[in-house]
Amino acid sequence: MSWIKLFLGLIVLFFLGFKASEKLFFIPNGWPAPVYDFSKNPPTQAKFDLGRRLFYDPILSADSSTSCSSCHSNFNAFTHTDHAISHGIHDRTGKRNSIALFNLAWKDAFFWDGAAHQLDVQALAPLTDSNELGSQVTEVLHRLKTTAPYPSLFQKAFGRNQINTQNFLKALAIFELGLISNQSKYDSVQRNEASFTSQEKNGYALFQKNCQRCHEEPLFRKNGFEKNGLPMHPAFNDVGRFPITQKNSDSLKFSIPSLRNLSYSYPYFHDGRANRLMDVLQHYNATPSIVQNPMTKNELIDLQSFLLTLNDLTFVFKKSLGYPFDDNHSKKMGH
Ligand code: HEC
Ligand code: HEC
Repeated sequence: MSWIKLFLGLIVLFFLGFKASEKLFFIPNGWPAPVYDFSKNPPTQAKFDLGRRLFYDPILSADSSTSCSSCHSNFNAFTHTDHAISHGIHDRTGKRNSIALFNLAWKDAFFWDGAAHQLDVQALAPLTDSNELGSQVTEVLHRLKTTAPYPSLFQKAFGRNQINTQNFLKALAIFELGLISNQSKYDSVQRNEASFTSQEKNGYALFQKNCQRCHEEPLFRKNGFEKNGLPMHPAFNDVGRFPITQKNSDSLKFSIPSLRNLSYSYPYFHDGRANRLMDVLQHYNATPSIVQNPMTKNELIDLQSFLLTLNDLTFVFKKSLGYPFDDNHSKKMGH
């Protein structure tokens, strides 16, 4: 009988090997070259596993109550929908809406105002911001050095005694770069595996006419900052890019967000002031610098139906990107 066991074992190994070789990072067909320099931080499964765990672990926050995923939940395309302005530890609020995280390797600047240019450094901002995780880097590294399984996860990813700021940030970045969304209906249509309804087709034409110059296919964004006619929010006085460059022409310019996964990432805009997608479309329809010939009510519905083809359920429910702690862990924690 043992040869049967051996045979079954080989089959299992074959499939495990198959699964492990699922690409951590890939460039979908027809997409541009990524901006991120992978030669400085090559993706490995060990870095990804470590980064994923860090992303979901409240150990990163001062009072162990909040994790990256508190504001960037996988079920919401890695943003949150329960309030417009993000809440951090002690329920303190910042002044901006969290940003959905996916296809980050193609971005050359991060945050609504482009304040950060390196994804590897970006995580220091939420980690130490008193309105977000409110931690000190040295304290976090100390916790990681003294909390299983982090010493062994760091060892697998980087070698012995390698728990330091740089490696912490590299692992988080590799997880975030692996958040690739390219499985929407729109993508299937591009691959000739599906077709648009006539309503979606009309919406696509309206999109190309009015929106495409900023929300460029296939990422549905482009690098750079633009004004989209939104007046300044009276409570926040947020002028976007201006404080970064001190150029008057950058006042009220914001980073162009992707239009993928809009069904999961409401509310919209940098301050979350629009609750419904139709509110956004109506804003544009009443803004002559964006929409020269206002659309009819039916056309707006067509445009919305096209935008909904950019939802990627496969991405949102992908297990390998979700919460990594197993039942064992919660049992150990006494839940
Ligand atoms: C309290 C809520 C909160 C927490 C916790 C949080 N973030 Fe964020 N995140 C935000 C907000 C709000 C923004 C937009 C801030 C801005 O533009 O000024 C943001 C922006 C980002 C961006 C920029 C995305 C882009 O496309 O420009 C990345 C990347 C990111 N966060 C990763 C992380 C990581 C990694 C962690 C954990 C170390 C984390 N965030 C923790 C709320 C949060
Ligand atoms: C001139 C460039 C430009 C054009 C044209 C444009 N947008 Fe935008 N769009 C932006 C910018 C910049 C933002 C972010 C603004 C902010 O948050 O203050 C944005 C935000 C959005 C958002 C919110 C996304 C989110 O995650 O919060 C949606 C939805 C959107 N645009 C849809 C459209 C549609 C539909 C059209 C065409 C009718 C369009 N845009 C045309 C630049 C543009």
